[in-house]
Amino acid sequence: MTPSLAFPRYGDKQNSPQFDEYLQLILEERDSCGLTEAIRQIDALMVTVEPGHSRAYVGELCLMTPYHYLVTLESEEHLTHILRIDMNAPDILVREVKSPNTRGIFRSLNEVYPIGAHKPNSRYMGEVFRVTDAHSVIELQKGRDMRFFNQEQVRKLELPGNMAVLKPSPYTHNIVAYWERPEAEIRIYALGWSAIREDMQAAYLEAKEVRERLGLDRLLLPIDHLATRIYSQNREAAILEYLTLTSYYYWGSYDIVSENSSTNVTKSVHYSNELECPAKVFTAANHPYFVSHLVKRVSPTEQFVRNFGPRLHHLAVAVADGEVDGVPNIDYVVNSLRNCGRHFLLDVIGSKEEGLKQIFSSASEYSSLIIEYVQRFGDFQGFFTKSNVADLTHAAGVDESLRALEAESRE
Ligand SMILES: [Fe+2]
Repeated sequence: MTPSLAFPRYGDKQNSPQFDEYLQLILEERDSCGLTEAIRQIDALMVTVEPGHSRAYVGELCLMTPYHYLVTLESEEHLTHILRIDMNAPDILVREVKSPNTRGIFRSLNEVYPIGAHKPNSRYMGEVFRVTDAHSVIELQKGRDMRFFNQEQVRKLELPGNMAVLKPSPYTHNIVAYWERPEAEIRIYALGWSAIREDMQAAYLEAKEVRERLGLDRLLLPIDHLATRIYSQNREAAILEYLTLTSYYYWGSYDIVSENSSTNVTKSVHYSNELECPAKVFTAANHPYFVSHLVKRVSPTEQFVRNFGPRLHHLAVAVADGEVDGVPNIDYVVNSLRNCGRHFLLDVIGSKEEGLKQIFSSASEYSSLIIEYVQRFGDFQGFFTKSNVADLTHAAGVDESLRALEAESRE
């Protein structure tokens, strides 16, 4: 295993001296106590949606990403649909709340935010990590004052009983869960009654037929990264907390001055290929919202967080390098999806010469999540170019202002 501090550092964003001091302490201790070795890849991502929305959302995901619908786990208050590519990429668990009256902690995380409250059951919940020894990982984490839901709470939340689930992070509002699974064994979620539902299967087959007819199934790859937006003052704490909870390392941070924002990247120590274990990105404003008028900078990131609460902003899907009829694959994918009525917040940005092209879709009506497409050319290793990130952040910010206006007009 490569020591967690041995990876090269990228980026130009200045961190506080305390950040560097804690980073070293946290990663050295994590490596030496065996946690880095015991915590492996992300096995599943969990998303929750409003009553009646999962059929459409599963259809949307099966058109816009390479996922397949596998099975539904039905419990008293939820339908949990399992989507899978294969055992080399994380599953997506789409969890529909059956009744609009169901209350719980994930709903509470939405309810105090003006736009988040409009769809109180719609949010990304967090990641499930495969661990080699659940007992020792849980004991070590409890010893670091990490708080877990107890078994009774996990049962009431109707989360799989074979997971140890941490309480939401105060910085990102996301959860991390652990479960033990030998690498060679298939993923089995201990929850409810399992059945292939006709309505979900129909939505899946319909989307898959379009995806194949357009040739998208050959171009769309697994998830490349997950990007969470947080308050500016929580940037360093959110990164360090995630490194404490996982076996990720700090890749580096870029300052996007024009958009009053920074992009902060963490990656798995064990999997250099993001498609096997996605990178986790944190985006935070450089200044809190209340000084925007003084520093004369807009703050699209802080605006998002104030409207929705800290939460996952987008899932980035990788697009295979190559061309279709002389057009880069990403342009072909986006044009095809536009012809199917899908919307994007801007045109594809970046270029082959710069190493990568990227785009943001409009936010999903069902999960509020944006899908980013990213195509890297040749052996380009980076995550972004600064001008791309500035354009993406700007486009998401403009969309955000429109949504805020819409939300106000509904109040
Ligand atoms: Fe991204």
